Amino acid sequence: MDKKVTVIGAGNVGATAAQRLAEKELCDVVLVDIVEGVPQGKALDLTQAAPIEKHDAKLTGTNAYEATAGSDIVIITAGIPRKPGMSRDDLLSTNAGIVKKVTREVAARSPEAVLIIVSNPLDAMCHVAYEASGFPKQRVMGMAGVLDSARFRAFIALELNVSVENTHAFVLGGHGDTMVPLPRFSTVAGIPLPELLPPERIEALVQRTRNGGAEIVSLLKTGSAYYAPASAAVEMAESILKDKKKILPCAAYLEGEYGIRDLFIGVPVKLGRGGIEQVIEIRLTDEESAALKKSAAAVQELKNALAQLNY
Ligand code: APR
Repeated sequence: MDKKVTVIGAGNVGATAAQRLAEKELCDVVLVDIVEGVPQGKALDLTQAAPIEKHDAKLTGTNAYEATAGSDIVIITAGIPRKPGMSRDDLLSTNAGIVKKVTREVAARSPEAVLIIVSNPLDAMCHVAYEASGFPKQRVMGMAGVLDSARFRAFIALELNVSVENTHAFVLGGHGDTMVPLPRFSTVAGIPLPELLPPERIEALVQRTRNGGAEIVSLLKTGSAYYAPASAAVEMAESILKDKKKILPCAAYLEGEYGIRDLFIGVPVKLGRGGIEQVIEIRLTDEESAALKKSAAAVQELKNALAQLNY
């Protein structure tokens, strides 16, 4: 393939993302993990699936960084996942140290890459990667909104018994309990959700979306969701690799947009070859604006906590 994507962390999210990237034949994939043998074993297993899945993507597993050189995109999933009873924020100090270290390694070898951060707490980890890489803001982003809106879409489709393909959902804000799903911009075949469902049903779906990650953590008991997170990261990567210019909700570094400054937070952006090519601003109602401000305050609090840590 003429494109290369490095995936850091060969755990559940990382290995699943590698599989999807290869099976869509988007790029060659380099899978990196700190545990000896795991990225090599998973890459080899995926290589052996290739004749059946009919793709020619090359998969390399490694514990070192040489093979990552010249990547077009680096997806960072390294870190520890949540256990039942833990919030994403509980992962802050452990994952900050890991994300800082791996970002420095990849940034040195792939200075032109776009970084897609998946490790949680997402918005705070974007700050860590932004600082550690020194990359322009257009080339550092977080995967959260695509996942949150996919969850919302799945619940809308189940509720109305319609194809998921007919659904669009709009989610703003941080990746956490303060995320801001916007029902009036969420549609089924172009019809706004409030035309199709009473407010209390919409609120129930919104609440399930907010709790979407925790619902899965409590079922799995060890580890957190990975099929949908991997799909979401790969959708972002595809839009960049193919320069599709899809508008997707991603964690982006804002400098005044939506009245928010110096903070990574989820907003709709246009994703193309250069990474974030545009932040799409829409006019919010007072209520929506207040919910976004509240979400930004929660992210700011984590950013402040990060500044106190020696990671
Ligand atoms: N360098 C490379 N890989 C590392 C490092 C490091 N310094 N530290 C940890 N890892 C690897 C682990 O060895 C493990 O294989 O990261 C991988 C994480 O995989 P899982 O434990 O399976 O976790 P996963 O479910 O993939 O979630 C990863 O994404 O969604 C978020 O909250 C989630 O922060 C978590 C991350």
